[in-house]
Amino acid sequence: MKAVAVLPGKPSSVHLRDIPSPSITDQPHPHVCRIPEGRGVLVKVLQVGVDATDREINEALYGNAPPGGEHLVIGHESFGQVVEVGSRVGEVKPGDYVSCTVRRPGGSLFDQIGRNDITSEEVYYERGINLCHGYLTEHFVDDAEYIVKVPRDLKHLGVLAEPASVCAKAIEQAFLAQERLQVWRPRRAYVLGAGQIGLLATMMLSLRGIEVHTIATTPGPHRKSEIVEAYGATYVSSRQTSLADLARKVGKPDLIFEATGNPEVCFRAMEVLAHNGALVWTSITGGSHDVTLDGARINLEWVLGNKLLVASVNGNRRHFELGLQALSHGELTYPGVTERMLTHPVAGLDQYKEMMRLLEQKDALKVYVEVAS
Ligand code: BGC
Ligand code: ZN
Repeated sequence: MKAVAVLPGKPSSVHLRDIPSPSITDQPHPHVCRIPEGRGVLVKVLQVGVDATDREINEALYGNAPPGGEHLVIGHESFGQVVEVGSRVGEVKPGDYVSCTVRRPGGSLFDQIGRNDITSEEVYYERGINLCHGYLTEHFVDDAEYIVKVPRDLKHLGVLAEPASVCAKAIEQAFLAQERLQVWRPRRAYVLGAGQIGLLATMMLSLRGIEVHTIATTPGPHRKSEIVEAYGATYVSSRQTSLADLARKVGKPDLIFEATGNPEVCFRAMEVLAHNGALVWTSITGGSHDVTLDGARINLEWVLGNKLLVASVNGNRRHFELGLQALSHGELTYPGVTERMLTHPVAGLDQYKEMMRLLEQKDALKVYVEVAS
């Protein structure tokens, strides 16, 4: 069967290759974990979303092949349909729509309790990213433990299950961490960035009744600003209004959700957070970049204001479920809005060059491959 792969470490190595079709008893990542007898699930891939991580992997900035080979099948945002299940699988059945989580457990205590998203080991195993093959292929097998059911009536948004899990986890982390305050009722949030993560965060925070201001570069109106407004939030162009001006105009935020991929913005955000507030970082910034800040002022304001910085990566099975619940709630509250994010379908694995080309384009909000229908 066909698969889209790279040779990690070698820039622009994305290519189509032929790999063996999996069977239900296969062990997809024997170097990490084993599927217990009868717990395999064989999935036919329908759609796979791609993001900046895939672009960076192809630029050789990120990612490693599984041991014993030199290629890595990419793609970590999966959506598919169950074809066959092992004798000890009761959670899903053939025909069900599913997504599959990204991380596989390493050896830390966190991994052993199902929290591989917060592994304390520096090496992490991620399908399609690091040391495990991904989903940009025709079929895959994995442990039922990592397969997450997508409601049939949500299948048009199934490809957003993984990014939604990342957002749901980050927001949950902020609320969990803020239990330190005994009571925390954030009234105002700034979401920095209007890519898929920024927009999904806008939706999830609006659903909680928070006043959301989503900030990105390009002045509206355009698709991103329309989506933000359809979620009942306000869109702000950072070219027209700086963060400091916005804070003077509407008030400082109790919560900042940072998703720009820009290290400058990650730190600038520290200058406007309200007392007792939480700043959540979700960007994964590649390369190296110095930022100049008034450290004394930030330190003073952060200490006097009891402020919190929390960083969040990945999402485990429960975060996928939370993300899917939020997508469902979003469909009922803002019908038809979220699917406006699905801007750039790519017709089939053969079009992998087009897929990479679209990832370079700024207005391509969501690029995803239609592997099968
Ligand atoms: C993925 C996460 C992953 C992270 C770090 C992101 O693009 O969506 O699941 O943990 O990259 O590799
Ligand atoms: Zn991703």
